[in-house]
Amino acid sequence: MSDTAIDTDFDQPASQVSADEAMRIQQVRPIPRISVQAFCETQAVASTIERMSEDRRMSKAQTRVYMGGLAAAVEFYQSAPTPNLIFLEVTCGPDELMSRLNDLAEVCDPSTRVVVVGHHNDVALYRDLIRSGISEYMVAPVAIAELMNVISTLFVDPDADPLGRSVAFIGAKGGTGSSTLAHNVSWTISTLFNSEVVVADMDLPFGTANINFDQDPAQGIAEAVMSPERLDEVYLDRLLANCAEHLALLAAPFVVLDVPHVWNGWTKTTLTHADEVVIVAAPELASLRNTKNLIDTLRTLRPNDTPPRLVLNQVGMPKRPEISPGDFADPLELQPAAVIPFDAQLFGSAANSGRMLAETDAGNPIVSTLSELAHVVTGRGHIAPKGKSGLKAILARLKKK
Ligand SMILES: Nc1ncnc2c1ncn2[C@@H]1O[C@H](COP(=O)(O)OP(=O)(O)OP(=O)(O)O)[C@@H](O)[C@H]1O
Ligand SMILES: [Mg+2]
Repeated sequence: MSDTAIDTDFDQPASQVSADEAMRIQQVRPIPRISVQAFCETQAVASTIERMSEDRRMSKAQTRVYMGGLAAAVEFYQSAPTPNLIFLEVTCGPDELMSRLNDLAEVCDPSTRVVVVGHHNDVALYRDLIRSGISEYMVAPVAIAELMNVISTLFVDPDADPLGRSVAFIGAKGGTGSSTLAHNVSWTISTLFNSEVVVADMDLPFGTANINFDQDPAQGIAEAVMSPERLDEVYLDRLLANCAEHLALLAAPFVVLDVPHVWNGWTKTTLTHADEVVIVAAPELASLRNTKNLIDTLRTLRPNDTPPRLVLNQVGMPKRPEISPGDFADPLELQPAAVIPFDAQLFGSAANSGRMLAETDAGNPIVSTLSELAHVVTGRGHIAPKGKSGLKAILARLKKK
């Protein structure tokens, strides 16, 4: 039957969902390891389900999309077990639908949930379907956010604590202050919200997390990855013990990923799967060009997500010709989430003493900007409202400093 699987052409750039829908999708918790099969009648519904299945929140679920609707489903399940969830698109009228659903009921395991996507906005039909054991009736056209919400309602335990939220920081080029901001925002999250935060320094050869936090960890990720020949049982045991210690921390934490400015398989994977991506850019042309490329790439990799957050850092470095924050933001169609001035004194003394900015000068306005950024990346607030006023407000504040 796999020959009826639709052949979607995903080499083309993924089509983007609206900003509104991206916000709604953002609320959906990751879907557990369930099997989902869809039997569609129209290409529109089939490709929406197919695009949903590519979403990072669906990466654990196994989704197959077939054409042929109800008839194909009944035939298919004569010889195959039914999955956890079936999406069934039907274009026929209510009477025909109810009688044909009986055929499906005969081959369907009672534990399988069935969601019908119909083309009739009919309340009586909705009631009949729900009464006969259908889990949900949706009216086409359906949006990815709606579909995922239905799956989430059926399969995600609302009482379970949400897993951690991951925030990836990457510099638009080297030296823009991405690591420093990643560490300071982590520190801010942990103190401000009293939350557990794990900082993963992914810059294997040149990481600075231990220096910034004035720590000397016994074992880095690098050592583990770089010396596979030492991966004997004892060594593995030691690593696992380490992980186990962190397991408690990982119960409901924030994970801040300090991603180095290199483009390879694992930085790409990290950025694709993070809940939030923060791009730290300096206000000059190379950063702008790289930021634009990064945003475009992320849009293709994360078609259903809100765009990355932009942080302009080291603004107003003496003697450097700079692009103004407004001109920087314009071609990107993104409001900066934070604009941070160049302050050699503050950053220099913090770095030299292995302390955070807030520990160095708690009253500095940069410290409050970082606290606002911590609110934004943890989903506790938005500093940049829609329209021009957000950026104007930030710029005005910057001028005052
Ligand atoms: N706003 C700022 N004002 C002054 N100095 C800053 C500012 N932001 C960062 N710095 C300094 O810039 C230097 C580079 O910072 P950092 O290592 O965080 O950058 P990065 O983007 O992670 O660089 P890399 O590409 O090496 O990973 C550090 O010395 C840091 O203290
Ligand atoms: Mg760095």
